[in-house]
Amino acid sequence: MGFLSVLSMAHRLVQERVRPGDPVIDGTCGNGMDTLFLAGLTGPRGSVYAFDVQEQALARTRERLAPLAADGRMPNLHAVLDSHARIREHVQAELHGKVAAAMFNFGYLPGADPSVITETQSSVSALEAALDVLRPGGIVTAVLYPGHEGGDAEAAAIEAWASALPQVAAQTLLYRMAQKPTAPYLIAIEKRT
Ligand SMILES: C[S@@+](CC[C@H](N)C(=O)[O-])C[C@H]1O[C@@H](n2cnc3c(N)ncnc32)[C@H](O)[C@@H]1O
Repeated sequence: MGFLSVLSMAHRLVQERVRPGDPVIDGTCGNGMDTLFLAGLTGPRGSVYAFDVQEQALARTRERLAPLAADGRMPNLHAVLDSHARIREHVQAELHGKVAAAMFNFGYLPGADPSVITETQSSVSALEAALDVLRPGGIVTAVLYPGHEGGDAEAAAIEAWASALPQVAAQTLLYRMAQKPTAPYLIAIEKRT
């Protein structure tokens, strides 16, 4: 039967925690797959913040969500052309401490310029910012690619940061194929306080 893929596991963990009307974040919207998933969970009363540094990613995301508008399922979509390191600046102040989930899928946009890639320092800053705006019980998910060039250092830095979080503040989960050290893996962080 096999285990859930890292992407499916990320979706399952998020689905268990997001309710209709919640504010949520896609920190790396890319082709918009995770944004669409989040929009389906939060529904028309929710707010979805989708970040990317490439306009073509935001365009693909808007296009992917367009059918939701046709039948009244479109959430309040904020497509943000800026680094996810600036989550605090872009998420409305009154939603700080209320965000139910923030999803990140690091690396580069498939089918686009592979040199536009997430970078260790801004990735860790983004995860810190996401944890800051989360509500207690909310979740951050991060899919990491240790097999990509540069992805190994980024994954190691993120794993070290997440493992060092105080247990009273957050709980960190690693979901990884132990026999495949270069395969993508998932870190999930549930905020406690
Ligand atoms: C692996 S792709 C995301 C895939 C996406 N979740 C999907 O469902 O298609 C990574 C994305 O991160 C974006 N990115 C790179 N650096 C970024 C940054 N500092 N802030 C926000 N997005 C960034 C890339 O442009 C790319 O679109």
